[in-house]
Amino acid sequence: MVKIKVIVNGAKGKMGIETVKAVQKENDLELMAQTDIGEPLAAIINDTKAEVVVDFTHPKSVMDNIRTILSSGAHAIVGTTGISEAEMKEIKVLCEKNKVNCLVAPNFAIGAVLMMQFAKEAVKHMPAAEIIEFHHETKADKPSGTAIKTGHLMGKEVPIHSVRLPGLVAHQEVIFGGLGQTLTIRHDSISRESFMPGVIMAIRKIKELKGLVYGLEHLL
Ligand SMILES: NC(=O)c1ccc[n+]([C@@H]2O[C@H](COP(=O)([O-])OP(=O)(O)OC[C@H]3O[C@@H](n4cnc5c(N)ncnc54)[C@H](O)[C@@H]3O)[C@@H](O)[C@H]2O)c1
Repeated sequence: MVKIKVIVNGAKGKMGIETVKAVQKENDLELMAQTDIGEPLAAIINDTKAEVVVDFTHPKSVMDNIRTILSSGAHAIVGTTGISEAEMKEIKVLCEKNKVNCLVAPNFAIGAVLMMQFAKEAVKHMPAAEIIEFHHETKADKPSGTAIKTGHLMGKEVPIHSVRLPGLVAHQEVIFGGLGQTLTIRHDSISRESFMPGVIMAIRKIKELKGLVYGLEHLL
């Protein structure tokens, strides 16, 4: 069997550690390297001939990583949040120039993808809506990439409230208010394992995509 050659970047972080374990469990995937800050990613991609790099790093370094990955000829699966709209345009151009693909997915948990889809449906009937997102206290950015993506899918400006507390992993409520009623759609990631089936699916499908893709829902 020809295995897909994978690098996990940000491998010492909370998501990186979980991703390394998940990749190592799959027979059709080969973990070529675990990289973290200060390592020569471009050289490691070239030396290992990695086809796919999964990035769970930091909002401040993610763009440099994406530039390195795509210009080294590897496909990028980006779970790191905090990418701006202008940066998304740059990624699209980089994909076309280097003939590689990039998936930017603010949330790899299937339940979160469904929560966003249900919110997109509900807002057609109940337009008054707000989002509360809850994350662990070490999360670098606010609001979360998932909350931004949810608002984007709902097609309007939705107020977002961010809670950062120890004990939380990643949670979101989309609350709709109507005459004499409310509707709450809630998703909870209670462990980082929740993201792994989505990451593994993305590694298997990234070659079939066309350029830049934003959101796991396009792979389902
Ligand atoms: N898409 C999703 O489903 C999902 C789920 C959870 C977290 N996230 C996002 O993933 C990112 C990482 O989260 P985390 O909780 O693992 O963070 P973390 O702080 O635990 O880990 C980040 C790791 O990246 C490393 N790093 C930083 N800059 C780097 C660089 N330039 N090159 C290589 N490595 C670098 C750090 O040394 C660290 O080991 C955050 O943006 C977070 O919001 C996404």
